[in-house]
Amino acid sequence: MSLKTVEWKDNSVIMIDQTKLPNSLEYVTYTDYNQVANAIRTLVVRGAPAIGVSGAFGLALAALQSDAKEKDQLIQDLKTAKKILFETRPTAVNLSWGLDKIMKITEQCKTVSEIRDNVIAKAKEMAENDVNINKKMGKIGAELFQNNDTIMTHCNAGALATVGYGTALGVIRATNESGKNIKVIATETRPIQQGSRLTAFELKHDGIDVSLIPDTAVGYTMANGLVNGVVVGADRILRTGHVFNKIGTYQVATMAKQHNIPFYVAAPLSTFDLKSNPENVVIEQRKASEVTGIGDRKTAPDGIDVINPAFDMTPPELISGIITENGIVKSPFEKSIRQLFAAN
Ligand code: MRU
Repeated sequence: MSLKTVEWKDNSVIMIDQTKLPNSLEYVTYTDYNQVANAIRTLVVRGAPAIGVSGAFGLALAALQSDAKEKDQLIQDLKTAKKILFETRPTAVNLSWGLDKIMKITEQCKTVSEIRDNVIAKAKEMAENDVNINKKMGKIGAELFQNNDTIMTHCNAGALATVGYGTALGVIRATNESGKNIKVIATETRPIQQGSRLTAFELKHDGIDVSLIPDTAVGYTMANGLVNGVVVGADRILRTGHVFNKIGTYQVATMAKQHNIPFYVAAPLSTFDLKSNPENVVIEQRKASEVTGIGDRKTAPDGIDVINPAFDMTPPELISGIITENGIVKSPFEKSIRQLFAAN
């Protein structure tokens, strides 16, 4: 069984509740875009491509919820929903990409029913495309790894972070499907453990050989020759090749450089932000309780000050290549990313 993270069915959005994993595989059904916004905010659904498609489905629900009789009123209602959905999480650019794509569709429509139909159709198409793009990216990325390699990954850039198949884990899945014998090392990814809760769950579910390490063992495993390559996902990639991804990615990349281990990023074109500079990207700061405890168990003194950024930035000099659905770009990234987009 392959996991379907988010899906449109009978005019509602169905999602895996990722906060319940790995203890139970539960699905939630939403018919109100505010519920989708809340699901993104509370990490019921997370991962850049998954929240991009969820935002699009949120707008599809808003189109159904609106009782507008005129086109302009419906567009106004969609703009209100878009703002609420957009403000849920700031760092992954796929969210605004998904919302903008849906809003753009409304411009060509003439009637209220045409808007509703086209918005739903477009959101469904985006979900379908996501899986196809990931499979294409996986095949391209699989060429980078050899038989008997051990590949490290950080956070969860898998089926659960997308509609299905995954970006970084898509590359790992495709390498495995190509017949190469590979092993995976997944970092636990504190504070909320996307690595142990989600990546380990997914890979084990697919029968791929995976070992879990604490984040603090990245240096040890690399220094002891246990890692041949790294592949991670991304929440936002700038035109300069700066990559924003789960907190700790920068440490993994730095350690990989220290040990001459190739460090790859796998992300679709929808994760690129060609306009922003590093200093303009908002890094989401999350609540202290994620750091002062594990689950419900307290692991820090009351009242302690906490710094809890959800993402960090890896500079291009630490990156061996960025795998996309249209090929792999390498240094100098500013030039190769420009060429990548010029060709599309
Ligand atoms: O806070 P999260 O779990 O949404 O963070 C997710 C990540 O950082 C992923 O690595 C990234 O979104 C890429 S997902 C294909």
